[in-house]
Amino acid sequence: MALNRSLKIAPSILSADFANFGAECEAIEAHGADWVHVDVMDGHFVPNITFGPSTCAAIRPHIKGVMDVHLMIAPVDPYIDAFAKAGADVITAHVEAGPHIHRTMQAIRAAGAKAGVALNPGTPASSVEYLLDMVDLVCVMTVNPGFGGQKFIHSQVEKVRQLRAMIGDRPIHIEIDGGVDPTTAPLVAAAGADVLVAGSAVFRGGSVSNPAPYGANIKAIRDAVLSTTV
Ligand code: DX5
Ligand code: ZN
Repeated sequence: MALNRSLKIAPSILSADFANFGAECEAIEAHGADWVHVDVMDGHFVPNITFGPSTCAAIRPHIKGVMDVHLMIAPVDPYIDAFAKAGADVITAHVEAGPHIHRTMQAIRAAGAKAGVALNPGTPASSVEYLLDMVDLVCVMTVNPGFGGQKFIHSQVEKVRQLRAMIGDRPIHIEIDGGVDPTTAPLVAAAGADVLVAGSAVFRGGSVSNPAPYGANIKAIRDAVLSTTV
């Protein structure tokens, strides 16, 4: 089956209310989110700590669509099965997280999830060249991972273009993570990305008790892309 390359907005719950993840996931899906992006940080690979597989398992029943788990942890291999069992549809690991990223991709697929590989801003597109026949998603970090609300790094747009050409007809999503808003989204979509993660640009101005701004924020990103591609 051909890959669905239409635009998908994936709000990152890193910007959600951590005391209300279930309700936040339901609210963003009700207001137009296509995927739910879940940022796992270990305080070692990145200078911040979020949560692990038990939290993912707890929020899984509150997500109807794709649960997209971004692992910013090292080592990663010992935890893949736990995140797959927690219900992750996509598990993304960083190419920088260890010496055996090829084995990591095999392990993710063997665990029954779609395999994603993420690249930090300082890592070239060529680092994933020999993984392209075994991944379902390439995530281009457009900020240094660890925190929401950082400024989009424009040099990464060219990397997206290079990856799009390298991928060719392979059924692989290109995901963008970091600093996505209505200004930057059209740049990466035009370069070939189809999944746009957005944390602060989706959750700003809203809350579980006032989720309407989530819908307006998601629509603003989507409209910005669609108005520049037609
Ligand atoms: C950064 C995370 C991102 C982050 C994006 O390490 O991987 O998913 O939440 O947040 P914004 O959209 O605010 O840059
Ligand atoms: Zn992320």
